[in-house]
Amino acid sequence: MSELTVYLESDARRPELRTTDPVLIAGHLVHSGILYERWAADTPLPASTDGGDVLRVYAGPIARLKEARGFRAVDVVRITPRTENVATLRAKFLDEHIHDEDEARFFVEGAAAFYIHLEGRVFRVVCEAGDLLSIPAGTPHWFDMGASPRFTAIRFFGRPDGWVASPTGDTIAARFPTFDPDRMETA
Ligand SMILES: [Fe+2]
Repeated sequence: MSELTVYLESDARRPELRTTDPVLIAGHLVHSGILYERWAADTPLPASTDGGDVLRVYAGPIARLKEARGFRAVDVVRITPRTENVATLRAKFLDEHIHDEDEARFFVEGAAAFYIHLEGRVFRVVCEAGDLLSIPAGTPHWFDMGASPRFTAIRFFGRPDGWVASPTGDTIAARFPTFDPDRMETA
């Protein structure tokens, strides 16, 4: 289930807030300039589906977000435990970093967690199918797909190299719970 947990940056043990209500999630995040929306993601996708199928199914909302936010391109990323170099892929975004452009993802299947660090707090957003999250350019954050990842997401880009991450050098990510979909209640 999609979930927002808000922590003080100094205390990863006792969250200030935890909610699975999409309206509350969006309301808390919009104050910090983060876009969260629920899109209908109820079209079953066959296991062998390719990125083109995913983009066709969601053509309407994709076009709307591109127009509203100035994104020029999209692609589809699908990660499973059998994806090549999955541990390396996970590690790539586990440390706090920023991007030159907004990082927007729409989850079609599976789940993963974004941790957004701003205003003295960490906003942990577990995204599942139907969740659109857009983190503004320059906002420190990290991303955990979990040790046994499984998700499909549409990525939005303003530039082909927009996804390139610049590390902040802050080690805060190591102090916060990693993403483990089987142990959500202990996170
Ligand atoms: Fe990122």
